[in-house]
Amino acid sequence: MKKEVRKAVIAGNWKMNKTPSQAKALIEEMKPLVANADCDVVLCVPFIDIPAAVQAAEGSNIKIGAENVHFKASGAYTGEVSADMLKEAGVEYVVIGHSERRTYFGETDQTVNLRSLAALNAGLKAIICVGETLEQRELGYTETLLKFQTKMALTNVTKEQLKNVIIAYEPVWAIGTGVTATADQADEGNGFVRAAIAEAYGADVAETVTVQYGGSMNAGNADELLAKVNVDGGLIGGASLKAEDFSKIVAAASK
Ligand code: PGA
Repeated sequence: MKKEVRKAVIAGNWKMNKTPSQAKALIEEMKPLVANADCDVVLCVPFIDIPAAVQAAEGSNIKIGAENVHFKASGAYTGEVSADMLKEAGVEYVVIGHSERRTYFGETDQTVNLRSLAALNAGLKAIICVGETLEQRELGYTETLLKFQTKMALTNVTKEQLKNVIIAYEPVWAIGTGVTATADQADEGNGFVRAAIAEAYGADVAETVTVQYGGSMNAGNADELLAKVNVDGGLIGGASLKAEDFSKIVAAASK
């Protein structure tokens, strides 16, 4: 039922892993394993791997994403990469506001919004990450926080642009820890995100937005997570570095 109104999207987030030659080899290994997917398949890779990844994925159903984008079009921003640069390199998606960027690199809700606007204005699809820490969850702030982060990220994003937005609910305590949210927790968190979108754009529109779950999703737990009504896909870290594991998650989303 949910697949009739919104796309299932499985996206790998390689983080700071794989050199260009390793990226090429992993994509070559993945291509036949995900060729029959009935969902969108995306690999978000380090900037330096993008040319090799785009070339390796050519002619397949794998789309390439970046892991960040700067919000200015050009200028004196040493070390940064613009949305137009990504577009021209063959990138279609970009991860924005990942909790590791929020935690280690000073990303704020405001910069997440600016990056999202830059990506969307350039015609990229934005995978915007939101999520609570364990402390915030234990204090009972999960719903408030997820709604706030979602609305802040989408400030000035038009209804039309929202078609190119995916929100990834990633509880910070579940990322890279091996501690997955239960399927009910994932469904509830994704539901809060969808409710925030409904408050801003209307319930009909919110029903069409893909909301992923991320945080220790793997070949063993993907089925249960993806069966939930509000879980439209996954943002996969560790398990996206292994072709077989990743393809099993893609298969689970294709059911
Ligand atoms: P993980 O990472 O699957 O390794 O927990 C998910 C993410 O950070 O997007």
